[in-house]
Amino acid sequence: MENRPALLLCPPDFYGVEYVINPWMEGNVHRANHELAIQQWRAFADVLQRNARVELALPQPHLPDMVFTANAGVVLGGNVVLSRFFHRERRGEEPHFRAWFAAHGFEIHELPRDLPFEGAGDALWDYERGVLWASYGQRTELEVHPLLAKLLGVEVVSLRLIDKRFYHLDTCFTPLEHSYVLYYPAVFDAYSNRAIEQRVPAEKRIAVSEIDAVNFACNAINIGAKIFVNKATEELKSRLVSAGFELIESPLDEFLKSGGAAKCLALRLDEPVPATAHALSTIESRVLQIEGHLLDSGLLDRAHELTIDSGGSFRILDFTLGKQHQSTSKATILVAAPSLQILEKINAQMIDLGAVLPDESIVDAELQTVVQQGVAPDDFYVTTIYPTEVRVNGRWLRVHNHRMDGVVVIDGEHAFCRLIRDLSASDKVVTGTLGVRTLRKMESRESRRSAHADEFGFMGAGVSSERRVELVVDEIAWELRRLRERGGKMVVVAGPVVIHTGGGEHLASLIRDGYVQALLGGNAIAVHDIEQALLGTSLGVDLQRGAPVRGGHRHHLRAINTIRRCGSIRAAVEQGALTRGIFYECVKNDVPFALAGSIRDDGPLPDTQMDLIKAQADYARLLRGAEMILMLSTMLHSIGVGNMTPAGVKLVCVDINPAVVTKLADRGSLESTGIVTDVGLFLSLLVQRLAA
Ligand code: ARG
Repeated sequence: MENRPALLLCPPDFYGVEYVINPWMEGNVHRANHELAIQQWRAFADVLQRNARVELALPQPHLPDMVFTANAGVVLGGNVVLSRFFHRERRGEEPHFRAWFAAHGFEIHELPRDLPFEGAGDALWDYERGVLWASYGQRTELEVHPLLAKLLGVEVVSLRLIDKRFYHLDTCFTPLEHSYVLYYPAVFDAYSNRAIEQRVPAEKRIAVSEIDAVNFACNAINIGAKIFVNKATEELKSRLVSAGFELIESPLDEFLKSGGAAKCLALRLDEPVPATAHALSTIESRVLQIEGHLLDSGLLDRAHELTIDSGGSFRILDFTLGKQHQSTSKATILVAAPSLQILEKINAQMIDLGAVLPDESIVDAELQTVVQQGVAPDDFYVTTIYPTEVRVNGRWLRVHNHRMDGVVVIDGEHAFCRLIRDLSASDKVVTGTLGVRTLRKMESRESRRSAHADEFGFMGAGVSSERRVELVVDEIAWELRRLRERGGKMVVVAGPVVIHTGGGEHLASLIRDGYVQALLGGNAIAVHDIEQALLGTSLGVDLQRGAPVRGGHRHHLRAINTIRRCGSIRAAVEQGALTRGIFYECVKNDVPFALAGSIRDDGPLPDTQMDLIKAQADYARLLRGAEMILMLSTMLHSIGVGNMTPAGVKLVCVDINPAVVTKLADRGSLESTGIVTDVGLFLSLLVQRLAA
């Protein structure tokens, strides 16, 4: 009985770089030196021959990558699972390798047609741990992993590759003797690195640098104490030596031009499976359905992207295209993830896109009871801005008091949205993502473009200071008039910049003219509005002349002091101490306001609520029923308001800083408009257009 391992190689008779299917091949088409490649391969095969039993596959014309036998399949204990190449260019290799395995008495397993898998390039057996490390994200589909577990009867650990240069697992990961692992951590996602760290203790992890990684030092064949590679730095060599290995370099740069090196050129044929092995894979998958303007609104792309970004895999099982302009499409998709936790994370985001389980698999939402006041059970479902329904006892219940960042509490036949801090013991909270759906407005590119009567369609969510602000302001003015006519509710959130930029008088006139139904802000806007009303300055600057006034830095404190003496803003108006300005108009016109305090507030004014939980409640109360919100140059208050506001409310965000506008207007095109401009100019224009 020979204890030298058996390896399958394929001579490079027809090797070359003839197409581009990985970044290494780019720029190298027809650039591999054939003579040199043959020399390098022979030298390498000779070295291997001294340490292993080498078998040869017959090279085939027009299959230049057949030298990379690691991609023929994965072999374990006499079984082979054949590859199904991701790229058409290599699919011609499949029948040749299949014939070879058949002729050599292997038990052959084939995967379903549409599931790409690239053999030992993406599946590496770790004898000492008894696990098959398998990768996905580049060439191999995640759904293959549970099949490998089943067919080979082993535990599969799924690792996600996130760097295109390291498109096969064997380019960046090798299990070595004595439980060592040689790998390049930077090309795995965080979850995968954790999976590696959980199974391989720190002293057994040999992490390589970028230099070694790009020299394919991890693309190694390990036989006993020997490690065969293309090349490695002295630093890595000495680390491997101290771990008890001997490094044998064999230059293979002609093959590197195709994105392969030592390990890619050989396939281990005789790896034994320990008797104790059993099939295990943590891959979870779920079939989902999504309907809408899937293609023209980019919904399907978004679903795909978020799945991949979160570490899952995405496959369209069925697609019915809406033929007419206005008709919607429907897709059935299979989402797989390396763990239930990740699947749930993906699912939660899918729900926001409107995805649902197919009818036959719809179940009730899972409920868990709160045991500690103000603390939700683990895995609680987190609400978003979209109207939501949960399924309880076979019926869909609409969630009331909806807002984002809440949890859903079920009370008999009713569902409510609640903040975690407001939970009481024995409340029933929805956990997981099953039995939850959101109702999204159908969005299509057309509806985003057309100036549809009810939407801010034509303004889009795009943010542009170039776009003619006048046009946008005209639309807002038109909407404000309509709101006022029908007794609707418009809420303004404003920061002190409104006063500094001279917009105070315009906001005051909007209030006086009945366009504003509530005003939200912080201490500063009120302080500077009142300073302006009492002393003609804003933070000590005379707005008429645009210049600081002597001693003006004390003005805002004098304003605060005056209001404190009166007792409140309202009292100051009633006592005749405050006779103009935004807050004067609020009091006079019975427009309620809420001021939320902060750590930097001077004073504060007696009206400023320094208990932020109470301030949040005040904001939420004044926001109830709002149909439109004007956010004027105040990032934090606006974000706070955004968080409390369900989808369906029109938001207009004005700020001179494009980053702030982008952040606030990022809500989907139907309901948010961003305007990058000076807020004082904006208000002046708005008032002018309203008067016209
Ligand atoms: N040009 C080949 C490809 O892109 C190289 C394969 C390398 N093989 C490997 N096991 N990493 O498919």
